[in-house]
Amino acid sequence: MPHRIILDVDTGTDDAVALMVAALSPDIELTGATVVNGNVPVEVGTENTLRVLDHIGADVPVFQGMATPMVRPDFPIPRVDVSSYHGRYLDLPPARSRKGAQHAVDWLIETYLASEGDITLVAVAPLSNVAMAMKKEPAILEKIPEIVIMGGGHEFGNITPSAEFNIWADPEAARVVMTCGRPIRLVALDATHRALVSREDCARLRELNTPASTAAADLIERRIQGYDEHQPMHRTGTAPVHDALAVCAVIAPEVIETTFVHVDVETHGELTVGRTVCDVAHRGGQAPNVHLALNADEPRFVSMLQDILGRTLPD
Ligand code: BDR
Ligand code: CA
Repeated sequence: MPHRIILDVDTGTDDAVALMVAALSPDIELTGATVVNGNVPVEVGTENTLRVLDHIGADVPVFQGMATPMVRPDFPIPRVDVSSYHGRYLDLPPARSRKGAQHAVDWLIETYLASEGDITLVAVAPLSNVAMAMKKEPAILEKIPEIVIMGGGHEFGNITPSAEFNIWADPEAARVVMTCGRPIRLVALDATHRALVSREDCARLRELNTPASTAAADLIERRIQGYDEHQPMHRTGTAPVHDALAVCAVIAPEVIETTFVHVDVETHGELTVGRTVCDVAHRGGQAPNVHLALNADEPRFVSMLQDILGRTLPD
């Protein structure tokens, strides 16, 4: 039985790869995608999400959600920089499909309430949509079997010295979700930076010559260029593809290595706002709430990308 998931995205180059993995994997049934403000403004993320799904011929409903963080209207909204890793619009033809009429938050609530408690929520973006849905209709909580989040970091951050982008971009929302009481797997930077994709891996993707594999090769090569210039990894010519690792963890849990610890989110710290405070040494005395991924199996991840992105959907 495929895993039913909803994917919450801010597409975004690594979100684009995650969407393609989710839509093409025979082990996943992608019920819908919800879009939130993050890498790019939410309208741009919605258009990008539709572009990616159209490009691979995937018929998946897409719903646009929160345009701002939950309580910080003035928080740095996307540093839209066309020269950034994510750019603005993805370099794919304009979307033919249209977004759904409902707001993503309302669609999440309606879909979870009507569900049989079997839809995993995979959030690879700031958590504004997810937290708003939980606040607006707490009854959805018992219908969410697991939340898999790409976000946070224990050893380091990527937007500030101590914070990872998805958590930092809406820390109050992240705190609501992290402390919601449902099972959570947190795919932190510590893990995604140990599952790097190289230029050679991109060349092999390109050889597969499918719409998904060639688009992914283009997107990841662009990421590698950006990482080499601005945030070099321990091997040059490589980049993390954070969000795709979170989706792969749904398909094959062994692609990440987790430890069960208490995690909370700093919402006030002058230097540490948006930090995931991970009690790996069990100093705080609070019960563990998060299966925290600090390591990943890089060869397995890369081979999953090859296998899944080499697939095509029937016409
Ligand atoms: C996360 O932030 C975004 O830039 C990426 O899409 C990913 O979800 C990595 O910190
Ligand atoms: Ca993302």
